[in-house]
Amino acid sequence: MKIIVTGGAGFIGSHTVVELIERGHTPIIIDDYRNSKPFILSRIEEITNTTVKSYNIDCCSFDKLDKVFKEEQPDGIIHFAAYKAVGESVNQPLKYYNNNLNSLTNILSLMQKHKVDNIVFSSSCTVYGTAEKIPVTEKTPRKPAESPYGNTKQVGEDILTDFFNSEHDKNISILRYFNPIGAHPSGLIGELPIGTPNNLVPYITQTAAGIRKELTVFGDDYTTKDGTCIRDYIHVVDLATAHIYAIEKIAKQSKQLDIYNVGVGIGTTVLEVVQTFEEVNNQKLNYIIGNRRAGDVVEIYSDNTKIVEELNWKPKYSLKDALRDAWNWQKKMQND
Ligand code: UD1
Repeated sequence: MKIIVTGGAGFIGSHTVVELIERGHTPIIIDDYRNSKPFILSRIEEITNTTVKSYNIDCCSFDKLDKVFKEEQPDGIIHFAAYKAVGESVNQPLKYYNNNLNSLTNILSLMQKHKVDNIVFSSSCTVYGTAEKIPVTEKTPRKPAESPYGNTKQVGEDILTDFFNSEHDKNISILRYFNPIGAHPSGLIGELPIGTPNNLVPYITQTAAGIRKELTVFGDDYTTKDGTCIRDYIHVVDLATAHIYAIEKIAKQSKQLDIYNVGVGIGTTVLEVVQTFEEVNNQKLNYIIGNRRAGDVVEIYSDNTKIVEELNWKPKYSLKDALRDAWNWQKKMQND
């Protein structure tokens, strides 16, 4: 299938483009590199030994996007392009609502106009807020979003559902990601945080590399086994693969709306991540215990039964693999 991948040079997008090619599909990247780097394209080509077509376009530019749809006539879209920093979204909510929602409505309008039937949407476990029961299934009620970023994911899901109900033939797969970490095992692509990383694993790798003085663990007085927050960390290649299975499934259907949790189904504390990183990479990490971070949920991890049963998807990589690959990527980046 020919598939437009918005945000295809980004962290999850670039790994998905690689997996699409490996499964025989033809990805077309749309990215304006505001949160990614053009050199990732040549890295994708190096890994896959294929030329990848790309457009430097902001998904909020309807007319430019229209031209790409007209030119390419894709079979489907995987829509990643969005802002994702929780803290920034609290200070600049309009930036998040404008970008994340306009790009989505543009894409849906163009799916109508150009008769493109299939879309996979990047959602997040953040839509569950502070869930009553852990692990969360897709039926766990969504709680009010904890941030404007989280709200763009909830509203994005609602827009897609309304769109689905109003159309005769559209297929939608909403993937709720847990915490994607790691990098491609080749060490050629991975996460490229701009400035100080917000997320745990890039902060750890930059600390181990000496770019940051120390990691601050945000609170050790939660009611968990070691007092630190619990998350479901998934290797980015496993997450990428889920997109391929999701689009291949809906492309065979007519009027289908799927929602899947994409996590490994294991809850891991922040200190367990730190210890595993130290062990697997033989590195001592400087860290201190700091205050809780505003907006953090204490514990969330997935029940992934639905995706495992319906898509026959299974994570191949462990936490150790992900932390080894993340460190390998960090080291390679510094040497390049
Ligand atoms: C959050 C969202 C996720 C979103 C992601 C985007 C939730 C449950 N998750 O992930 O949906 O896609 O942001 O950025 O809302 N930590 C430290 N020190 C650090 C950094 C993080 O201790 O320097 C801790 C955090 O407190 C948290 C864990 O590490 O317990 C993971 O944090 P992070 O990597 O930022 O991801 P989430 O906040 O879980």
